Amino acid sequence: VSLVVAIRNFQHQDTDRVSEIVLNALGEYFPRSLYIEKSIDWPDGFKVALEGERIVAMLLGILQGKSESRIIIFAVDEHYRRRGIGRRLMEEFIDLSMRTGVSRITLEVRKSNTAAISFYEKFGFRITGVLMSYYADMEDGLRMMKELNHQT
Ligand SMILES: CC(C)(COP(=O)(O)OP(=O)(O)OC[C@H]1O[C@@H](n2cnc3c(N)ncnc32)[C@H](O)[C@@H]1OP(=O)(O)O)[C@@H](O)C(=O)NCCC(=O)NCCS
Repeated sequence: VSLVVAIRNFQHQDTDRVSEIVLNALGEYFPRSLYIEKSIDWPDGFKVALEGERIVAMLLGILQGKSESRIIIFAVDEHYRRRGIGRRLMEEFIDLSMRTGVSRITLEVRKSNTAAISFYEKFGFRITGVLMSYYADMEDGLRMMKELNHQT
């Protein structure tokens, strides 16, 4: 069943709920200051998806120089997966990156995270490198990239 979700920029008061979604989805806890600082650096790059009043997903992207955007945290509440919410957030982020004029989007993902890897491949991301023992538990990471074609 697909849901009607609204997408808007992250606001400071979203921090606790966003933190909770990230902890549940990725088992990682990031300081509040990370969310606040990144949202100030590039407000449009940090999106939340809401069902009614409740935040059910988030995507945090940053600008890396003039030619690259990078997805640093992306999580959908487990009860809301496979309903197109991740797709909505990703489509918004690709569109934003196009409008911003960067030439590629990059991200890192755990080698064992086959769900996310399949998801990213759907959107044209390709594996471009292996990051040995990238994560705190020493799991390898995969670097993925999507080239943006600005030709019309
Ligand atoms: C990866 C993630 C963000 C996808 O969000 P989602 O809202 O479930 O994705 P969507 O429903 O929009 O899926 C779009 C398509 O991606 C693919 N996909 C999504 N989840 C998949 C899975 N578990 N296995 C295989 N393909 C998958 C499918 O092709 C899907 O289309 P379909 O449902 O019509 O088959 C979500 O699974 C998640 O939050 N995972 C935990 C956190 C995480 O791993 N984040 C990324 C870290 S780098």
